[in-house]
Amino acid sequence: MGNPYLRLAAPGVRGLKPYQPGKPISELEREYGVSNIVKLASNENPLGPGQRVLEAIRDLPENELARYPDGGGFELRQALARRHGVEPECITLGNGSNDVLVLMAEAFLQDSLEAVHSQYAFAVYPIAIQACGATAQVAPALPPGSDSPYGHDLAAMAERVNDKTRLVFIANPNNPTGTWVRAEPLREFLETLPEHTLVVVDQAYGEYMDDPDYPDCVDWLDRFPNLVVTHTFSKAFGLAGLRVGYSVSAPGIAGILDRVRQPFNVNLLGGVAALAALEDRQHLGRSVEMNASERDRLQTALGGFGLDFVPSAGNFVLVDMGRTAMPVYEALLRKSVIVRPVANYGLDRHLRISVGTPAENNRLLEAMEEVLSAGAKDEAGGGD
Ligand SMILES: Cc1ncc(COP(=O)(O)O)c(C=O)c1O
Repeated sequence: MGNPYLRLAAPGVRGLKPYQPGKPISELEREYGVSNIVKLASNENPLGPGQRVLEAIRDLPENELARYPDGGGFELRQALARRHGVEPECITLGNGSNDVLVLMAEAFLQDSLEAVHSQYAFAVYPIAIQACGATAQVAPALPPGSDSPYGHDLAAMAERVNDKTRLVFIANPNNPTGTWVRAEPLREFLETLPEHTLVVVDQAYGEYMDDPDYPDCVDWLDRFPNLVVTHTFSKAFGLAGLRVGYSVSAPGIAGILDRVRQPFNVNLLGGVAALAALEDRQHLGRSVEMNASERDRLQTALGGFGLDFVPSAGNFVLVDMGRTAMPVYEALLRKSVIVRPVANYGLDRHLRISVGTPAENNRLLEAMEEVLSAGAKDEAGGGD
């Protein structure tokens, strides 16, 4: 029997499927009885938080835990304003940048309105759009053989903008594809948009970028006042478990988001940690450097196994297994390595592999080599 509460749910919610996070280590331990697990499934920073973050958390007076944090995030917004060269009024804090994406949808969408995103764009966009009852217009992605396989096709996205379009989501770089859009085409795209359309440029992986043509869209806020740039502390800063993200936008947009933002949406530890993380340039630099060299090594090794991958700008690689990927995923699980199936994106031949430490990547590569040579199909009995 179906869920009897479904008919009571808001119409936009009825068609939604829950977001599928990467399998937690504890679940793999329970289900498979394996240990010494390597998790390369959620694009976290394998180095974890830096020392300054750990010290800041340890130094927190214990009785502070019983008090609500500063609901306005005064200090953190000041520090972020300095980082980006904007006024603190431009910053909206979130419980992860995910929270800000949802705030954008809640504040600007409703059932008669639309939002545009690309096929294979980050899975939270369609959830946020549809939960508000709005319609997601999904632009087909660029084809596999193009310069940016599975990447955003800005021309196709522009074609889907109309009188009802209030939001466009652009992940730059995108998860799970690792693709990115360069400054010139993005600027041209923004120029085509009507005034009633706001554009969220999601720079969750922006710190990892080394393409000189990659635009930091915060620099364009004066020219394009309809831009909202989101950032996170979950990736290069290593604070995914603490859930802190934010957006930079015109103060007027931030003011609207503040109307729907929950009080205290950034918790005390998250706020303290984010402030300390901003000051630890060394840890950020180390994290980005290690990611670049290990991502290259992973890509080369996976290519050496005869696998196609999408050249990535993020801290993960999308790999084409050349067959249904689920049996490979399961065979890797049995070898205590968690990667991410992406069939929920319509990519059932692909796996997304987060870049780990050198030791973790060695484990992944060894396990992958064994699974490939054993023939994942035989080993996993077909899978789904
Ligand atoms: C493209 C993109 N945007 C936003 C997020 C949300 O991250 P968080 O809510 O941890 O800031 C993620 C997380 O994986 C992501 O891949």
